[in-house]
Amino acid sequence: VSLKPYNTFGIDVQAEYLARAGSLTEVQECLQWVKHKSIPCLVLGGGSNILLTQSVQGLVIKNEVKGIEKIYEDEESVYLKVGAGEVWHQFVLYCLQHNYAGVENLALIPGSVGASPLQNIGAYGVEIKEVFHELTAMHRRTAEVVHFSHADCAFGYRDSVFKHKYKNEFVIIDVTFRLSKTPRFNIEYGAIKQELDKRQISELSIHAIAEAVMAIRTSKLPDPAQIGNAGSFFKNPSVAKEQYLVLKEKFPGLVAYENQDGSMKLAAGWLIEQCGLKGYRNNDAGVHEKQALVLVNYGNATGAEILQVCNMVQHAVEEKFGVKLEPEVNII
Ligand code: FAD
Ligand code: EPU
Repeated sequence: VSLKPYNTFGIDVQAEYLARAGSLTEVQECLQWVKHKSIPCLVLGGGSNILLTQSVQGLVIKNEVKGIEKIYEDEESVYLKVGAGEVWHQFVLYCLQHNYAGVENLALIPGSVGASPLQNIGAYGVEIKEVFHELTAMHRRTAEVVHFSHADCAFGYRDSVFKHKYKNEFVIIDVTFRLSKTPRFNIEYGAIKQELDKRQISELSIHAIAEAVMAIRTSKLPDPAQIGNAGSFFKNPSVAKEQYLVLKEKFPGLVAYENQDGSMKLAAGWLIEQCGLKGYRNNDAGVHEKQALVLVNYGNATGAEILQVCNMVQHAVEEKFGVKLEPEVNII
């Protein structure tokens, strides 16, 4: 099977087997089969945060566990248990429709609900750790069903326990979110403020915020249906305040934000652009011309070619700024 339709980078590699799992039982059956055949497996949601660099041995399990269920409700909050195979943005639309607040800043992020805790998806001043309650996962070898609390997930910036200690250990089956019945608007992010001002919104609402976010995203980020990509290819790197001050002196235009611990998060897009690489292209692999943090496939690039651009960008940024860029995309 070609995986080209299953990854937003549009990389054409083959997988030995592909199965769609629509329930916990079907995930379990897939895992039993994998065990029986002694082959590896790869779990996929929307394929919007992976770079496939070679053909995939074993079974690709496409997680299609569906459903949105209200499991508890009190004065302030509602708890929704959402199948891992639900499309993230559809879930956001569901919340908007029901006036449940908390995910409006995260509108239009591609991919599945099941992958959202893996890297603690975030945008425009909000991360899912702020609405996450717990998740259910199945252990890949033992098929044991395990519940992970907020603390168990060890969320960080684009990070969780599923990228480290439990990397490739579990299949996430469903995620429970706690949404608010009364909104607490989050419009600190500069671009949102500007967009809302431009729109002259008379009364702020979660709907107005979602619409502003969608407009910003559509204007900046390439649509995978048009140009293959996986969003930001690298994380924004953090450096100590001292290193930031030295860099800022040398490069006054440097864009950075202060982290809670006092360290500074640098805008990787700016670093890459300053290396003259915005719009760089080698055959069909390149750096997006509007957002230098996004690597793109203009058509028939291979994963290896995208990886070459990744390495080249890392070298250039390290040489010029002494800062190491770490990929955000899962390289497979
Ligand atoms: P996939 O790419 O299918 O999988 C990602 C990883 O998770 C893989 O390692 C996979 O094995 C694993 N995985 C997937 N599902 C499961 C499961 N059920 N159980 C266990 N492991 C699983 N991200 C942000 O945080 N903020 C953004 O603003 C943002 N913008 C983006 C814009 C564009 C245009 C694109 C293409 C991507 C963007 N991303 C962003 C990245 C991406 O949307 C998120 O990482 C998303 O959560 C990936 O979901 P997915 O279902 O496509 O994951
Ligand atoms: N910038 C440049 N040149 C560029 C791109 C960016 O100079 O080519 C500078 C601009 O000055 C801008 C700053 O970098 O002010 C930040 O850019 P932007 O607001 O576009 O955000 P980002 O840091 O590039 C991050 C996330 C995105 C998320 C947005 C909005 C990471 C790795 N990326 O991007 O997430 O949507 O903020 O919150 O943290 C993703 O993870 O895939 C993703 C798209």
